[in-house]
Amino acid sequence: MKTLGEFIIEKQSEFPHATGELTALISAIKLGAKVINRDINKAGLIDILGENGSANIQGEKQMKLDVFANETLKNALEARGVVAGIASEEENNLVIFGKDRATEGKYVVLMDPLDGSSNIDVNVSVGTIFSIYHRITKIGSPISEQDFLQPGYKQVAAGYIIYGSSTMLVYTTGCGVHAFTYDPSLGVFCLSHENVRFPKQATTYSINEGYYSKFPTGVKKYIKYCQENDDKTHRPYTSRYIGSLVSDFHRNLLKGGIYIYPNTAQYPKGKIRLLYEANPMAFLAEQAGGKATNGYQRILDIEPEQLHQRTPFFVGMKSMVDDADRFMAEYKD
Ligand code: AHG
Ligand code: MN
Ligand code: MN
Repeated sequence: MKTLGEFIIEKQSEFPHATGELTALISAIKLGAKVINRDINKAGLIDILGENGSANIQGEKQMKLDVFANETLKNALEARGVVAGIASEEENNLVIFGKDRATEGKYVVLMDPLDGSSNIDVNVSVGTIFSIYHRITKIGSPISEQDFLQPGYKQVAAGYIIYGSSTMLVYTTGCGVHAFTYDPSLGVFCLSHENVRFPKQATTYSINEGYYSKFPTGVKKYIKYCQENDDKTHRPYTSRYIGSLVSDFHRNLLKGGIYIYPNTAQYPKGKIRLLYEANPMAFLAEQAGGKATNGYQRILDIEPEQLHQRTPFFVGMKSMVDDADRFMAEYKD
């Protein structure tokens, strides 16, 4: 049995100039995940379910657990001293750590502390998503928004925690995707899936089909394509949609599938947040042999303009995202 801590230290020794700071950072996320996991597992017994009575900057109602997860991770990340600041789906502005806001930390972290939070009250899987960059500003000076508005291909590491039937931490530092299952009796994440790759066989498409009439024509045509009979490509594909990107992505990664959240009438720019959700998932997808686009362009190449920017999102097996992109190119509205 190999723990996440052991695995990271082993990998770190492969990089001669590694200082251990990234290890400390991931260890902070690991600690935050354990705390969130503990409370999610007790939800219903402690007063943590339901709405918080507040809204985030995007006007979405915050759940108590959104706020709790955000505070937990923020505190864990600040305590290690290696992070200069964070940006979060649940924070209006970026949060700068350190005395006089001139921190030595060399990394910035962007996060969706609790993804799929509308599922929490009904005991369905939720997740945490994180994305890590080197800061651009000089160490010792205050960080600024430009440290966070970097294209996704510059990510140093990214990952998610899925609080499901078991809790897992899945991450990449650009050398494959590795997954660790949490053993609550020992309080450790144990390596359970090394070098995860999307399977070869397409099986599943995940999209909120309730909004079908609001989808772009390319997406409508692609959905119909998924539903057609074809022995060679094993269609029709199965439809599965949890409504939590982490859970839908995780299933598609292990079983072979695509997740789509296109632009709709309600969300003309798409719903998924580029910096907190799309970029980290895109990095993981590519590292697992998959692909992520906005229907036309590679997600990791997008130059972000705003912290809370949204994007249409197509992510999963390369062959499936290729097909969806082809329909998007063919049927422009
Ligand atoms: P969050 O809970 O962090 O706001 O994210 C929810 C996102 C994503 O995880 C999920 O796939 C999607 O919103 C679900 O949206 P719909 O209910 O519109 O399908
Ligand atoms: Mn989310
Ligand atoms: Mn969220």
